[in-house]
Amino acid sequence: MSLVPRITQVLVEPPDENIWHEYFVGLVNRVGPIAQKPKLLDLACGHAGSGFVNEYASGFPDTEVFSLDMEPLVLNWLDAPRKICADARRIPFRDQSFDMVWDGYSVLELGILSDAESYFVAKEIRRILTPEGAFIFSHLNGRSEAETIENLVKIGFKKITHLLRLSQRVREGYRHRDSYLMR
Ligand SMILES: C[S@@+](CC[C@H](N)C(=O)[O-])C[C@H]1O[C@@H](n2cnc3c(N)ncnc32)[C@H](O)[C@@H]1O
Repeated sequence: MSLVPRITQVLVEPPDENIWHEYFVGLVNRVGPIAQKPKLLDLACGHAGSGFVNEYASGFPDTEVFSLDMEPLVLNWLDAPRKICADARRIPFRDQSFDMVWDGYSVLELGILSDAESYFVAKEIRRILTPEGAFIFSHLNGRSEAETIENLVKIGFKKITHLLRLSQRVREGYRHRDSYLMR
């Protein structure tokens, strides 16, 4: 099966300090409506909630956001209606209960987990998504993106869409951040 992205990537040059806002708005536009009243899991949401999830919920106000993080202190900071203190390796929700899961700059990317543990997280994500549900994630180019995608394909995700690339100038050249949607 080809892992070639189905949508032509869009290069976003950082215009100014609104770079992240613009990036997330771009992502939300590309993802579009997923379900009538989508249930969206913000996996490893952090203390402010994930930028993408916040932007999606403001674009699609019927979205029901569930914010999950394993750190109680992080959740204490977070101002969100549904907070769940849990480990991504064991997500406390029933099978097929979400239309969308977001993982950004977190469990599958940061190297917090071993490869075997990341595989469990990926399986948990597939388990809690509806069959047509969307998993959206964002990676720094080159880190472990290829392995992540390979793992996701192994556990049953079939379609991959490259949503957006953010290209940042750094001292040594360019660094890319890519976002993907898998079903
Ligand atoms: C960089 S922050 C998250 C950023 C956020 N997802 C975003 O898109 O802006 C990483 C978060 O992952 C959480 N985390 C790390 N390992 C986790 C795990 N196994 N289960 C749940 N949360 C985890 C940390 O507590 C931290 O709040």
